[in-house]
Amino acid sequence: MIPDKAPKEDVFHCPENLKKESHIPSFEKYKEEYIRSIENPDEFWGAIAKDFFWKTKHTGRFLEYNFDVTKGEIFIKCMEGATTNICYNLLDRNVHDKKLGDRIAFFWEGNEPGDELTVTYGELLQRVCQFANVLKSLGVKKGDRVSIYMPMVVELVVAMLACVRIGAVHSIVFAGFSSESLCERIIDSQCSLLVTADGFYRGDKLINLKLLADEALQKCRDKGFPVKKSIVLKHLSKEPEEVVGSQSPPAKRSCPDLELSWNLDVDLCWDALMKGASDQCEPEWCESEDPLFILYTSGSTGKPKGVLHTVSGYLLFVATTFKLVFDHQPDDVYWCTADIGWITGHSYITYGPLANGASSVLFEGLPTYPDMSRMWAIVDKYRVTKFYTAPTAIRMLMKYGSEPVQRYTRKSLKVLGTVGEPINPEAWQWYYSVVGEGRCPVVDTFWQTETGGHVLTPLPAATPMKPGSATFPFFGVVPAILNDSGEELEGPSEGYLVFKQPWPGVMRTVYGNHERFETTYFRKFPGYYVTGDGCRRDEDGYYWITGRIDDMLNVSGHLLSTAEVESALVEHKAVAEAAVVSRPHPVKGESLYCFVTLTDGATYNATLEAELRKQVREKIGAIATPDYIQNAPGLPKTRSGKIMRRVLRKIACGEKDMGDISTLADSGVVDELYRNRCCTTA
Ligand code: PRX
Repeated sequence: MIPDKAPKEDVFHCPENLKKESHIPSFEKYKEEYIRSIENPDEFWGAIAKDFFWKTKHTGRFLEYNFDVTKGEIFIKCMEGATTNICYNLLDRNVHDKKLGDRIAFFWEGNEPGDELTVTYGELLQRVCQFANVLKSLGVKKGDRVSIYMPMVVELVVAMLACVRIGAVHSIVFAGFSSESLCERIIDSQCSLLVTADGFYRGDKLINLKLLADEALQKCRDKGFPVKKSIVLKHLSKEPEEVVGSQSPPAKRSCPDLELSWNLDVDLCWDALMKGASDQCEPEWCESEDPLFILYTSGSTGKPKGVLHTVSGYLLFVATTFKLVFDHQPDDVYWCTADIGWITGHSYITYGPLANGASSVLFEGLPTYPDMSRMWAIVDKYRVTKFYTAPTAIRMLMKYGSEPVQRYTRKSLKVLGTVGEPINPEAWQWYYSVVGEGRCPVVDTFWQTETGGHVLTPLPAATPMKPGSATFPFFGVVPAILNDSGEELEGPSEGYLVFKQPWPGVMRTVYGNHERFETTYFRKFPGYYVTGDGCRRDEDGYYWITGRIDDMLNVSGHLLSTAEVESALVEHKAVAEAAVVSRPHPVKGESLYCFVTLTDGATYNATLEAELRKQVREKIGAIATPDYIQNAPGLPKTRSGKIMRRVLRKIACGEKDMGDISTLADSGVVDELYRNRCCTTA
């Protein structure tokens, strides 16, 4: 499946100097290790597991599983019998066994240039233990779910690892989500506690997070699910005397008036709780398959799925992918620009880097604030060696040309990474030649919330790169391409991307709904995990992701389901029906094109359009704001009433050739929709 020799031509090769220090310095070594990982997973992962601390060792096979629904329930078990604690492995092991207590874990860089802090492994351990004791004092126990809704501050890492230390399950909700989305996630995972903050700035914009959190808690109460306590971090509204010894910097800008919104029955102040808490906390020893965290991802039915990851397999997988895909070295400074509220932040800001004792940048702000060169200013300031971002950010910065990049030297950079969506070759080339000046390999990492970590990816010193291809599988991962009938295709081919067997970091279930887990990923092609992505394999065996083949959209690297946006639209009293499709976008990758059919008597005008945008923002969050809304008096439907999205997609893209529309009940609507299609965004 993987060629014996990598192609020599039409590819970009790794510079020789990187090979010298690399963990996997050649394609031959990659291939050798890959075969070992597939043929002898017990030995392969067993050797990796030796680097970590196990309170008790595992018994039996490294991985036990059933991937075939026709043979019974789907399950994946890794290292059964072992007990450990991930927080212990990330912090205590580094501080005590590896003597890395003084190493910087995070360089925190705030939204405003000049707002900065550092936290060492030793300090992080202390704070995590304190907060773990706070959680315990509030009655949080092993297995309880804790919802976290916070900006990109060190305390977010503290809160998540404190949960892990006591065996509680964190459910982090990205701070760009609406109060409605937060409420839905709190109820679905039955969280007993919320951890949040007063507010934060994204560029010039103040986000009053406490207000959104309060609204969410009110909505939970209205739905009969009262959350007893909410711990509020004063990130912006900190008093000067409270700053000493805290991880948050002094407030430099205006902030929400906390006194007005403080609810004495529910709200607890982070700093006050921490002051009295001991910094000693024995970790809770967890079973390998105990739940670690829940993270929601869009589902094609419109209701988000709580993806559940468990302890041992996730630890080994994210630690190993981080180490090898970024070729981590002890003197590296690593920076992933994602938000911890997404899986990229979970796996490659918190868990993977800390498991390797890495020093990372944790950035609160925006790549465009205060100007277009902020990223490169940060790269030079901290001498970042490994840099990981999204294609959408690259495309956006590309629009401003090379000058903002070249204002800084970027000479520390060694490896560049991308994640979240297919990267177009033009953006890849710009990233490689302008940002990396042709000396840094680009690792285009394909993976999903569900996969836990990288599954198709180059290794920087081993894999010759082709711009736009995620290249080859990571260790332990066996991809295949299927046709519509579920047959495996050999050689150059295109079809559904599936995986034939589990790897340690794959999700274990949809929280509270195992049936949905099986239906979404395993029923379409029994015996395989179905990614939902289309994929092409070229004549050299390279994999190229061609995009989603279900009703999902990828806007700026964030997955959204069309059904989720449609249901937010139809909740407006003027909307009878809505259909949402994707339209390509030069920066965001895809954009949301919405067709709405109004109820009798409603009039379509600019006010209604603005209301609909607001409605979607309030229901889901700003990431789902419609780019185009078109009044659709009729929608193209088959005689059985099914909306033909294929036709709507063509209209949205301004394509005249609709293909076969003979099954449409009324083909007249197509011409009308085409004539009135939107050409400009809001
Ligand atoms: O469609 C693929 C796309 O993002 C989806 C997963 O989204 P999410 O669970 O939100 O996780 C994003 C961060 C891991 C995939 O099904 N995707 C992700 N990375 C790539 C990609 N598409 C192409 N190339 C990639 N490198």
